[in-house]
Amino acid sequence: MSLPIYLDYQATTPVDPRVVQSMLPYLETEFGNPASRTHVYGWRAEAAVELARETISRGIGARPDEITFTSGATESNNLAILGVARHALTQGPCHILTLSTEHPSVLDAFSALEREGCRVTRLGVADTGLVNLNSLERAIGEDTVLVSIMAANNEIGTLQPINEIGKICGERKVIFHCDASQAVGKIPVDMSVLPIDLLSISGHKLYGPKGVGVLFVRRTKPRITLAPLFYGGGHEAGLRPGTLATHLIVGLSKAIEISLEDMDVEGKRLLELRGELLRLLKENLGGVRVNGDLTRRLPGNLHVSFDNCDADALVSDLHQIAISTGSACSSASRSPSHVLTALGFKDERVRSGIRFGLGRGTTRLEIEKAASAVIDAVERQREKSV
Ligand SMILES: Cc1ncc(COP(=O)(O)O)c(C=O)c1O
Repeated sequence: MSLPIYLDYQATTPVDPRVVQSMLPYLETEFGNPASRTHVYGWRAEAAVELARETISRGIGARPDEITFTSGATESNNLAILGVARHALTQGPCHILTLSTEHPSVLDAFSALEREGCRVTRLGVADTGLVNLNSLERAIGEDTVLVSIMAANNEIGTLQPINEIGKICGERKVIFHCDASQAVGKIPVDMSVLPIDLLSISGHKLYGPKGVGVLFVRRTKPRITLAPLFYGGGHEAGLRPGTLATHLIVGLSKAIEISLEDMDVEGKRLLELRGELLRLLKENLGGVRVNGDLTRRLPGNLHVSFDNCDADALVSDLHQIAISTGSACSSASRSPSHVLTALGFKDERVRSGIRFGLGRGTTRLEIEKAASAVIDAVERQREKSV
């Protein structure tokens, strides 16, 4: 059986073969524990981890000591949000602020902190998915310690004005955490100029391995203090104890290096392919509505609703393409997308939305085949419903 055309690159990406090659030695001969101080196995593993830390920090305009390795963006988000808020709760009242369109790893951390005594604000967004900067400014109070807003939305690809958000937070002395797991390697993210204090990265969104990520923690101007989530050793300056996964860290570093090299060319290619996909759908079908902002958007993301269609039925009818109705997390729960709901759309538009995620392996021929399969499936479903 041939595999379907993969158009779900926001859920995950395949590991680049060059990344696989870079990892192999650290699963075989270079298997030492990077924390072993008494022999060459440990020294070599530690050297590999430190080289990766340096490469990653250079890639995002940070300092090596600002890179903390984690198991992925879920952990990075939790460490950033719980870490700031739990530290702040020991000092006094604590208000934290986010958007209603954030990833569950942010929203659920906020709910947990609400139960622990934090005041929580979940700001709504415009129908494009964009934050309203005036509302953000107004919502910040004397007790606000943290704003957490993602760089690029995983469902509708909306790119938030992170520079402006960071400036507002900086002026009000509020810590700004940004979940950039869909953004790093796709759009420029330069921590030497961006006013962001904490930044989450995930390996498997940029052709690296699953189970590894980074939390960037700013060390100067301002120096951010976090309470750790785990205890058990001095790894990662005590912030994230646990034996470091050398092979995953080396793979993540290689993946970031490759993504940054390719970013401009690949971004333009994906924009063209996305334009082609949308053109084919719109030319051949009526009632195609784009969800999210078309200009402030990840190049490899398209999210559309098809009038008079049920997205779940469409996705299961489309055996030839691997697509989804939203995030991989919500596809397990099958509840309507909290992101589309937050845009203020009627239930029908929410339930007829499909996410197309284009990536490094996507070709023009695949886009043509996928468009034609979607057009047929939508027409079939609409015929059945009349
Ligand atoms: C925006 C966003 N944040 C966080 C995550 C979680 O990342 P990870 O799978 O590395 O835990 C994802 C991936 O699903 C995501 O898209």
